[in-house]
Amino acid sequence: MNTEKPRRRQRYHGKNPRHFSEKYKEHAPERYAEDVARVLERGRTPAGTHRPIMVREVMEVLAPQPGEVAVDCTLGYGGHAAVMLQAIQPGGRLIGIDVDPIELPKTEARLRALGFSPYTFTVHRTNYAGLARLLPEPVDIVLADLGVSSMQMDNPARGFTYKVDGPLDLRMNPQRGQPATALLASLNESALATLLLEHADEPAADRMARAILRVPISTTTQLTAVIRGSGGDDDSVRRVFQALRIAVNNEFGALDEFLRNLPLCLKAGGRVAILTFHSGEDRRVKKWFRSGERDGTYSEIAHEVVRPSAEELRANPRSRSAKLRWARAANSR
Ligand SMILES: C[S@@+](CC[C@H](N)C(=O)[O-])C[C@H]1O[C@@H](n2cnc3c(N)ncnc32)[C@H](O)[C@@H]1O
Repeated sequence: MNTEKPRRRQRYHGKNPRHFSEKYKEHAPERYAEDVARVLERGRTPAGTHRPIMVREVMEVLAPQPGEVAVDCTLGYGGHAAVMLQAIQPGGRLIGIDVDPIELPKTEARLRALGFSPYTFTVHRTNYAGLARLLPEPVDIVLADLGVSSMQMDNPARGFTYKVDGPLDLRMNPQRGQPATALLASLNESALATLLLEHADEPAADRMARAILRVPISTTTQLTAVIRGSGGDDDSVRRVFQALRIAVNNEFGALDEFLRNLPLCLKAGGRVAILTFHSGEDRRVKKWFRSGERDGTYSEIAHEVVRPSAEELRANPRSRSAKLRWARAANSR
């Protein structure tokens, strides 16, 4: 018998919780199915969850079969993983990877509750850049859905959102590396301008860099105010946050290392699918897949990107920048 007392939810002032930490529904969306359904109907993502993108298209190109071994390099909320796990049964195994120490245990618990045992589903808190070192042998399927999850985005304490105030952190793994505030403190104007240009194609990179370094910034809303104060609009804010996030998490370094070693991770005939969300990511995937096709590493690759359907774009506006590319490892390499 379970003798544990149910935990009381946090008290808050007024009619509705205001701070993220008080928003009890966001912390346990599974228990509030009706609220979640209402939010989904409005084309929004219920906070505390993540809606997997282009699931049908991803499954079509990966064509998972019973008994196969798959890797989800970016487990997130586990949406793609749950569908993949079903598709490879009976006998299949999925290796789930994520760097996020806050969300990963919740996702593992959620997938265990669906009945996936530690044999069928293993979890690794690590960077997918080191996939080749992690795998004891090549696998049938590799999936990577790049960027941040909605849970990371929606939690102000993590500093990814510019809509609510929070520390300017932006780390997917807050136990490693340095927050965005420390990065800003270490850069001069020209280095910051280069970063804004290279990581987010910011057209006013010089002006933004000058404004950002003129005042000390420690929170997300301070940064947003400085960008707007120097003539930036919503898109400039989005680009500056994106550029800092990519730098703080060394996202391009991780993606390049992963793409370079990917052929070692795939069995003959193995399939890989990668979802990207901006041109810096897509360019890299395209380049590595094309050179792999030329040198015979891949027998087939996506020559055109696959985009979300009109229906998905309506139902989930967060899918709007998604691009899917895939490749198939050659039978003899
Ligand atoms: C867009 S979400 C994935 C969502 C997931 N496909 C789902 O259905 O819920 C991206 C996830 O990748 C993780 N991530 C990003 N870069 C990573 C890296 N280099 N290594 C491991 N995990 C990473 C993030 O922490 C985040 O949880």
